[in-house]
Amino acid sequence: MQRPTLALNVVMLGPPGAGKGTQAERFARTHGLPKISTGDILREAVVAGTPMGQAATATMDAGELVGDEVMIEIVGERLTRPDTRPGFVLDGFPRTVAQATALDGIMDGRGALVVIDIVVPEEALLRRLAARRICGSCGVNAPVEWIAACGTCGGALVVRTDDGNGIVRERLRVYHRQTRPIVEFYSGRPTFRTIDGNQPPDVVTASMDGAIREVSVGPGEVRA
Ligand code: AP5
Repeated sequence: MQRPTLALNVVMLGPPGAGKGTQAERFARTHGLPKISTGDILREAVVAGTPMGQAATATMDAGELVGDEVMIEIVGERLTRPDTRPGFVLDGFPRTVAQATALDGIMDGRGALVVIDIVVPEEALLRRLAARRICGSCGVNAPVEWIAACGTCGGALVVRTDDGNGIVRERLRVYHRQTRPIVEFYSGRPTFRTIDGNQPPDVVTASMDGAIREVSVGPGEVRA
């Protein structure tokens, strides 16, 4: 008898600059899954000037977290869409124990979460975030070979508004205070894995693929 194929539901954890977005993008593209980045959703709302974007701007620019209620509603709605049925890659959510608890509720009956925690030393995080440039138009992280303009849309490259030195240090403090506890929340689960993110991006991609394969029992199937 053929076993039903389960969804591949991936959650990326890690401090600011760990490479969550970079790896989420690669994994989602390779596996044909939607990448859901709460940071991107918020930045798009800021650019569009929606009420949510206007409310979130000051919080994000201060390096603090947007309220749990708003974030849980955004992700809860996004995960009702049909494109998430085969699975998804979540980048930037959950970020608090309250969000992680809510996600368990949202996932009830939808299969296990594969949780990947990317670990990178603080000096490397500070270096990466100080060096990062993004496209001022489409928001994508600029690879080093883009000198002045975005290779995708031609927009000018700029510093992300929350990548200033003081704000990055606050983001790291917020990570340790509010987000790090969710590593404990997930670490006892059989589908939790830690990977070394202080390696070249392709090596991190291979580690992540290997870790996800290890907890999977077949294509798209995850041991609960
Ligand atoms: P968010 O956008 O999620 O930011 P973050 O978690 O601080 O993460 P970053 O985007 O800075 O880093 P990353 O780990 O994705 O690394 P990346 O791949 O970009 O959130 C921003 C704000 O939104 C929050 O502060 C908060 O205010 C709000 N927010 C979002 N979600 C929320 C939630 N759930 N609840 C409440 N508030 C929320 O890489 C970083 C740099 O390093 C890039 O330049 C990249 O090219 C480079 N790089 C990547 N990998 C490597 C590597 N292996 N080696 C060398 N360089 C690398």
